[in-house]
Amino acid sequence: MAKLRLGVNIDHVATVRNARGGDVPDPVRAAKIAEEAGADGITAHLREDRRHISDEDIDRLMAALSLPLNFEMAATDEMQAIALRHKPHAVCIVPERREERTTEGGLEVAREENKLAHFIAPLREAGCRVSIFIAADQRQIEAAHRIGAQVIELHTGAYCDAHAEGRFDDRDAELEKLRRMATFAHDKGLEVHAGHGLTYDTVSPVAALPEVIELNIGHFLIGEAIFMGLTPAIAEMRRLMDAARA
Ligand code: PXP
Repeated sequence: MAKLRLGVNIDHVATVRNARGGDVPDPVRAAKIAEEAGADGITAHLREDRRHISDEDIDRLMAALSLPLNFEMAATDEMQAIALRHKPHAVCIVPERREERTTEGGLEVAREENKLAHFIAPLREAGCRVSIFIAADQRQIEAAHRIGAQVIELHTGAYCDAHAEGRFDDRDAELEKLRRMATFAHDKGLEVHAGHGLTYDTVSPVAALPEVIELNIGHFLIGEAIFMGLTPAIAEMRRLMDAARA
């Protein structure tokens, strides 16, 4: 089975910083610690409203990181220009609504196929791996494949929410969907990632899916870091992922 990579999302270090408007805690420092703690990549989402990660954070991450940066962004002209200026290792296209608290659903690729195909073409030409964040839905996977994405990231939010709310039949049904759609996407030649809402309690069944080769995890890890520190919080996630994979 291919090694499972861990991408650590540092957005919420910036959320805490921005609550006071100063320079601390510094998401770039968190990224450097994640690097040493066993992360394989760093993920950061530059939102249109800059509610957490800032433009300057992206400049500093690009300069400071030895790990690949997975740059999450909405499909807007502004974000495309920023991505083309930085040429990060990967660009993950996500839906964005100002009123949402987090990225609540996957991208509607099937409905905007033409527009998205044109949108991602220059990013691919610039050498970025283009990933599309979608629900575990065959229509969306087929559309992501048709527009030329190399990677899909399956949204694990519905699976995690069902677990957190004790709806275990729903959780198991969501996991089954993730399993079938990971296989479906892999068979089409797409690289499969997954993420959103994962915790120590929910990570193992997703980490055990053989076609999934990267998990992107943020909010829970930054929360755990308050209690135990960032290095052990990441190390424990890494341990659970490796154990599930073994
Ligand atoms: N993957 C994608 C595409 C996301 O948008 C997010 C949240 O920004 C994550 C993974 C990480 O989710 P969480 O912070 O809930 O672990």
